[in-house]
Amino acid sequence: MTLAEAKEKLTKYGQEHVLKYYNELSGEEQQELLAQIEATDMSILSACKHKEDLVKKGVLSPLAAMELEEIEQCKDGFTATGLEAIKAGKVGAVLLAGGMGTRLGSDNPKGMYNVGITRELYIFECLINNLMDVVRQADSWVHLFVMTSDKNNDATVSFLQEHDYFGYNKEYVHFFKQEMAAATDYEGKIYLEEKGKLSTSPNGNGGWFISLQTAGLLDLIHDKGIEWLNVFSVDNVLQRIADPCFVGATIQKNCVVGSKVVRKSAPDEKVGVMCLEDGKPSIVEYYELTDEMMNAKDEKGDPAYNFGVILNYLFHVKEVEELMANLPLHIVEKKIPYLDENGNPVKPEEPNGYKFESLILDMIHQMDSCLPFEVVRNREFAPIKNKTGVDSVESARALLQENGVTL
Ligand code: UTP
Repeated sequence: MTLAEAKEKLTKYGQEHVLKYYNELSGEEQQELLAQIEATDMSILSACKHKEDLVKKGVLSPLAAMELEEIEQCKDGFTATGLEAIKAGKVGAVLLAGGMGTRLGSDNPKGMYNVGITRELYIFECLINNLMDVVRQADSWVHLFVMTSDKNNDATVSFLQEHDYFGYNKEYVHFFKQEMAAATDYEGKIYLEEKGKLSTSPNGNGGWFISLQTAGLLDLIHDKGIEWLNVFSVDNVLQRIADPCFVGATIQKNCVVGSKVVRKSAPDEKVGVMCLEDGKPSIVEYYELTDEMMNAKDEKGDPAYNFGVILNYLFHVKEVEELMANLPLHIVEKKIPYLDENGNPVKPEEPNGYKFESLILDMIHQMDSCLPFEVVRNREFAPIKNKTGVDSVESARALLQENGVTL
């Protein structure tokens, strides 16, 4: 893109300020900035001016989960079905590790965080240890696809290489990068991260499938005969991955997606809740739940919207390929590093603008059937989002110890 073309595009979207330092840049830096301007989708940025209108829900109704009692009764049959699929190589796993983990506040990728106390125990290591349980049970390796972003890819890849993949078979580990989106101030103006670089942020975890495809890994998935992908977050250290019982239940119930869920600890707990939206599976965010929905009861007298998602989904690949439509845009307040008016870099302590994301939870609504599969909260849900307090390193450590992990 030439400078004139860049100016034209920037004028169209009211972003001319990003050329403020253009004349100070070297020829190479100028070319890089022009290429970044060309590659950036600026048409989405003005959406921050009417962000309340972005995600409008349809008519919501409850969706019953498969609860622990039923799972316990059918456990052996589900597990046998799941193990058969895993042994046949039909199940892969996708680790979503492209996030910035800004709430935790570490400069390293979240998976590199050491949760050990008397020894080193990294988040990535916890996850691989959990997956190894299944590898041993099935006597079969599971392909593991790791999504990173421009911001953390190199650190993630070298860390796992240096630690010899924590004993995982490296032939079965595949990295791919997600796309980036521009990050803006509250007026939708793109921040500069450096004089010749727009501030960017990973474009949300909803882009995982497209990024997997862009990286050419869908061909590998087809070649290897992988039919199911268990997508999970990096920050739940008790995450059970490719859990044979969950896989078997989703297959036996003829669902195209399964979602692990936990019973909510309180009606207003801040988790997304499984439900039906216009008759199709969906996830309603905690702030979208009305008082009436929070107090609604099912036929057993239990809360009707009682099961929260924990970012552990099992997708049937074929349906994802066929049904993938554009996901809605979410605009989220974040701390975004930027240059102040004097051109000095600032790393803000508080949120100072917006990032633009698509979310995996919106994919559920594109699927025709979903099995919400209850798991025991204290055994499978120990998220690390914050430094202290709720969903923190401290709370996750306590849960790891409760589950017999030496720290
Ligand atoms: P979060 O919603 O907790 O976001 O991600 P985050 O960026 O990691 O953390 P904060 O909000 O800045 O503190 C949930 C999961 O989705 C992944 C994360 O790595 C985590 O596993 N994720 C999130 C991505 O892979 N890409 C993204 O763009 C965002």
